[in-house]
Amino acid sequence: MNGSLDVDTVTGVVSDTFTPLAAHLDARTARLAVVGLGFVGTPVACTLAGAGYTVVGVDVVADKVDAINAGQVPFEGEEPGLPELLARVVAEERLVATTDPEALRLCDAILVAVDTPVDAVTHQPVYRALEGALAAIGPRLRPGTIVVIESTLAPGTMDRVVAPALERTSGLQIGRDVLLVHCPERVMPGRLLANLSSMSRVVGGTTPEAADVALRLYRHVVTAPGATLDASDALTAEIVKTGENAYRDVQIAFANEMALVCEAAGADVWRVRDLINKSPGRHMLLPGAGVGGHCIPKDPWLLISGMTARLIPAARAVNDGMPAHMADLAADGLAEHGLRLRGSRIAVLGMSYLEDTEDDRNSPSTALVAALAGRGADVTAHDPWVPAYRDRTVDDVVDGVDAVVLMVAHTAYRGLDWAAIAGRVRTAVLVDGRHAVDAGMAARCGWTVRAVGIGPARAPLAHRGDEHPG
Ligand SMILES: NC(=O)c1ccc[n+]([C@@H]2O[C@H](COP(=O)([O-])OP(=O)(O)OC[C@H]3O[C@@H](n4cnc5c(N)ncnc54)[C@H](O)[C@@H]3O)[C@@H](O)[C@H]2O)c1
Repeated sequence: MNGSLDVDTVTGVVSDTFTPLAAHLDARTARLAVVGLGFVGTPVACTLAGAGYTVVGVDVVADKVDAINAGQVPFEGEEPGLPELLARVVAEERLVATTDPEALRLCDAILVAVDTPVDAVTHQPVYRALEGALAAIGPRLRPGTIVVIESTLAPGTMDRVVAPALERTSGLQIGRDVLLVHCPERVMPGRLLANLSSMSRVVGGTTPEAADVALRLYRHVVTAPGATLDASDALTAEIVKTGENAYRDVQIAFANEMALVCEAAGADVWRVRDLINKSPGRHMLLPGAGVGGHCIPKDPWLLISGMTARLIPAARAVNDGMPAHMADLAADGLAEHGLRLRGSRIAVLGMSYLEDTEDDRNSPSTALVAALAGRGADVTAHDPWVPAYRDRTVDDVVDGVDAVVLMVAHTAYRGLDWAAIAGRVRTAVLVDGRHAVDAGMAARCGWTVRAVGIGPARAPLAHRGDEHPG
């Protein structure tokens, strides 16, 4: 089903209660709310406003609300098109933000995009924000409206948490008086807007009618040719979303385990990966210094919450072990100079979880800094995006250190002059966690190089690799 198809071809019969809602969604005259104005809610609100709807954004954080009403994106990072779109829809008064949930009373469709983390120790879902949002929505819900949960949920949450909370606080019955849908987001920071229009979406209704009516909204969002809107039940949508991220985590864990194999054997995982991927059906992902962000480290836990699983926790352990492995690589490089981590000064480059974003949630770099400090190192850190680390320059941070650990392949780090940096450090040990530095070049500049996936003896040859026609 293509988002641009005629609505008559994508929807079924709508009952009398929801006919006005369906008509307003079709005509873009519906009043919409987006609850939660973070990395997801902000571009969603802007996209809907840009599509012609009138949108109110609701958040509990006044600073975010103020930023949006001032026409500014409430978070840092390169997001092509988002600053311009946000400024435009706010100026046109199509989007207004507020901390006052009373605004929800006027809305025909309420989308929820609050954070749904897991507990750091138990790995069980923490639904504080979700429950807060539901408590704000329920008493203000009108018959004939629709609620869409875009946040990522553990399987069964719509049934066990969301629907009962809304029915209890509204006095309305889901399916009869109000429609309820789970339409999980698939966006990635760095391409939020483009993802919203171009990625296929699962529209999981708690009733078939709920999915049908939600399609009338989402066909104005998912507009790129080839992108599909796939109606399903809510449980399927919950499992698809958490499952796709668990799949990625397991795949990355495989790549990381291959990196550890290659290091131990003295081989080059990048050459190995290239050649593995020439075998049909093999798509080995990139190994690296760890997995972070809001989604991949926690969605696998959401998927298996309340049950016993073996593969997914093992993958989590491999990926969560990579920052400590980076500390081991630093220790190994220092040992070549007769140094130990204890008492050494280490510069960490990159504190976000992904290149060119300020998003540092679950960042492997945070785990690395803790691991290094725990082993007695004196750690400094730089990041061109993350506010707490961007005031100082790379030169300031590397001055007089014993090792530099590159954790994020920010564009700003791609052009670093490693010969010049070698002149600023006390000991030239470089640990590359992202295959971002030409190891041969660095070795020629005097660096002792350690890199994820490359056995020490092979480091200077990391970029060789002869290719002959098959
Ligand atoms: N960040 C991503 O790349 C991404 C991608 C796909 C899916 N998701 C999912 O989308 C959801 C939101 O993620 P995010 O990255 O936007 O989170 P976020 O932390 O950036 O934003 C959540 C927002 O919700 C607000 N909030 C919390 N409680 C609230 C309440 N009771 N009422 C109103 N606002 C409230 C917070 O203040 C915050 O601004 C999560 O479930 C996440 O797993 C995120």
